[in-house]
Amino acid sequence: MKLRAVKPLLIITVIALGFFNAYATTSNWISFDQTTWQQLSSNSKTSQLIRSHLKGPKLHLAQVDRRQLNLLTEVIQQERERCGGFVLHSKVSNKKSATGLLEKLNKPTTPQVRKPQVHKRDKYLRKVDADYTINQQAVVPKWMEQVSTDRMDKTVLHLSSYKTRYYKAPEGVEAMKWIAQQWGKLTAKRTDTKIELYDHKDYPQPSVILTIKGSLDSVIILGGHGDSINTDDEGIHSHAPGADDNAAGIAVLTEILQLIVNNNYRPRHTIQFIAYAAEEVGIQGSYHLAKVYAKRRTNVIGVIQFDGVNYKGPSYDITLVKDYTSQQQNDFLASLLTTYQPDIKWRYELCGYGCSDHAAWNYNGYHASYPVESTAAEQNPYSHTAEDTFDKSGYTTDHAAIFAKLGVAYLLELD
Ligand code: CO
Repeated sequence: MKLRAVKPLLIITVIALGFFNAYATTSNWISFDQTTWQQLSSNSKTSQLIRSHLKGPKLHLAQVDRRQLNLLTEVIQQERERCGGFVLHSKVSNKKSATGLLEKLNKPTTPQVRKPQVHKRDKYLRKVDADYTINQQAVVPKWMEQVSTDRMDKTVLHLSSYKTRYYKAPEGVEAMKWIAQQWGKLTAKRTDTKIELYDHKDYPQPSVILTIKGSLDSVIILGGHGDSINTDDEGIHSHAPGADDNAAGIAVLTEILQLIVNNNYRPRHTIQFIAYAAEEVGIQGSYHLAKVYAKRRTNVIGVIQFDGVNYKGPSYDITLVKDYTSQQQNDFLASLLTTYQPDIKWRYELCGYGCSDHAAWNYNGYHASYPVESTAAEQNPYSHTAEDTFDKSGYTTDHAAIFAKLGVAYLLELD
C-alpha cells in the first residue's frame, strides 16, 4: 500500500536515470534506510555522488559512482555506531531492475509462514526446521572448558599483523588464503570436510567456506567477516589491522572448528564455517553467497554471525541484535546464555540496516542471529581505525571466549 503512494516519485527518478546511462559501467546501486539517506543527502560531498535516487517506504536505493564508494562508506560509517549501514547491489544494471529491487527490498521476499508459535517479526522468514530444545547439558560444558584463548590469541595476532585486510588490497587476499590454509590444516585428517576459496567476480578478495558434511543436507552456518577497513582514510594503502573487527571473530570460528576436530565430532547437519569477503563495504560477500544459497534452495536451518567479539563494554558483555534477525533463533540464543553462561550480562538492541552479514541471510528468509560485543553506545572506539590493534584488549581474547562458548553451545544444541 505504501509503495503505491511513492510511485509518482519512482517515475520521476526513472526518467532522470535516462540521462545517466553514460555512467552505467562505473555505477552501482546501494540500498540504505531513511536515516542514512538524510546523512548522504545533507552532506555536500556525498550528495553530489548520488546519480539517482529511488525512495521506498522503508529502504531507499541510490545509484552512485563505484569509484567513490570509499567516500560513501566513510560518511555512512562515521555517523553510525556500528559497521555497515548499506548493501551494495552489484548485479543491478538498469533502471528496470533497480525499481524491481526497490519493491523487493521494501517487502518480504519469502513465502509467509503463519504458525501460532511464530514471532510476529519472523513471519516472513522460512518455516523453522530447527529444533531449539536444549538437551546437550552432558556435552556442552565439557567443550566450553576446552575453549583456549591461547589458540585464539594466535589467530588474532596473525590476522592483525597484515597492514590491512581491505577487500581490494593484496593483503586482503593473502589474509583470506591464510584463513583457508589454517582451516584446511585443522581438518586435513578428516574425509568429511571441504575447504573452498569462493571467488567474487567484482573484487579480488575471496570468501572462505569450510564444509563438514553431515548425514543431513540441511546446513548450519557459523560466520564472520575476514576483511577490515580504515574509515578515517579508506583505501588499499591505509593501515587497518582490524584486531577486534574482525580478526577476533575469525578466531572464534577457528576455535569452534578446532573443538569439532579435537572431539572427533561427526555432525548430523552439514556445518559450514564462512569467513566473508567485503563485509565492510556493503556486506558484499555474504549478500552474494546468501542469494546463491537461496537460489539453490539450500536448507540453511540457522546462521550465527561473529563480528566484533573481543571488546568488553563497561555495562554489557553481549548485545543480541534484535532487528534484521530471527526472533525465534534469538530466543534460542538467549536460552543458551541462561543455561550455559548465566553470569553473562546481555541485552537486546537494534543495530540498523545492513549492520553485518547476518542481514544478508535474513533478507533471503533464513534464520540468522548476531550476538555482538558491548552496546552500541559503549562500543569499541577503535573500530574501523588504524588503532584497532590487539594491545587494546591487553593481548587477550578473554572476551571473545564468551562468544566461542556461545558458538559451541549453538552448534551442539542446534545440530
Ligand atoms: Co565488522
